Amino acid sequence: MRPRNSRSLDAGSAHVIVTGGSSGIGLATARLFADRGAKVSLIARGPERLGEAAKELSAAARAADVADRTALTRAIGELEEEQGRPCDVLVTSAGLARPGHFLELPDEVFRQMMDVDYFGTLYAIRAVAPGMVERGHGSVVAVSSAAGLIGIFGYSAYGPAKFAVRGLLESVRAELTPHGVHVGVVFPPDVDTPQLAEENQWKPAETRAVGGTIKPLTPERVASAIVDGIERGRFVICPDAGTRALARFGSVLLPFLNREFDRRARAAGVSRR
Ligand SMILES: NC(=O)c1ccc[n+]([C@@H]2O[C@H](COP(=O)([O-])OP(=O)(O)OC[C@H]3O[C@@H](n4cnc5c(N)ncnc54)[C@H](OP(=O)(O)O)[C@@H]3O)[C@@H](O)[C@H]2O)c1
Repeated sequence: MRPRNSRSLDAGSAHVIVTGGSSGIGLATARLFADRGAKVSLIARGPERLGEAAKELSAAARAADVADRTALTRAIGELEEEQGRPCDVLVTSAGLARPGHFLELPDEVFRQMMDVDYFGTLYAIRAVAPGMVERGHGSVVAVSSAAGLIGIFGYSAYGPAKFAVRGLLESVRAELTPHGVHVGVVFPPDVDTPQLAEENQWKPAETRAVGGTIKPLTPERVASAIVDGIERGRFVICPDAGTRALARFGSVLLPFLNREFDRRARAAGVSRR
């Protein structure tokens, strides 16, 4: 459902900024917008992948750490200047996941997840929201996770940061929609990206068992759900039926899911530690 007061997006003339746009879901989303003729701007830290992505998409790019508010705000301002247009669409896909046993994860990991996944999202939104409200137009979409819908074994650092992203976007939706700004939040399950490969190296056996044998989605599938969600003015953006059910009926399903997930974790054998 399109929010009241929001104007439809003309991707052909829009300026789309994607944090985490050099890889995975962010890159696939940027690619789709570039195919539609949008002016695309990318933000990430590593200059090499960023440069390659920018070249492929004829996009503008700035290297910045989203956890660094000053650097991120400066990068967004410079990209708006370079593209000759303020940000019409912001997709915050920069993020990282570090699973592990709660009792073994160092405090720094909990802080890092919040710094990058939560504050990295917050700072980007705060850089563009005032202008969007002033113009009465724009779209802000943050990538949360299925781990932002329910607590999962092994995600005690990552999950709360993604819950926080969801909570932020729920409040921001209520405040920005009346000003004509679309707000959305994305809940992907496992997606076949470099992050998943990195994350898999840290996953406890129980986390793997809970995940089962479901095949990861492609980043292109998530990107297509994001672009479709923006065009339709959706708040909850789920790229598959499983997360859609979780987003709609999570609190009802939770006792049953927990029973099944606990059983799988026990069978993985390590929860007796
Ligand atoms: N893959 C999954 O299974 C999955 C599932 C649910 C949700 N998600 C979420 O989807 C989003 C995208 O993940 P992905 O799987 O596409 O990962 P990815 O392929 O590893 O891409 C992550 C992107 O974020 C950038 N990035 C990471 N930390 C950053 C920082 N501090 N500042 C600026 N840029 C940063 C990376 O570039 P640099 O490293 O060069 O900075 C890269 O461009 C993340 O928020 C992730 O939590 C992923």
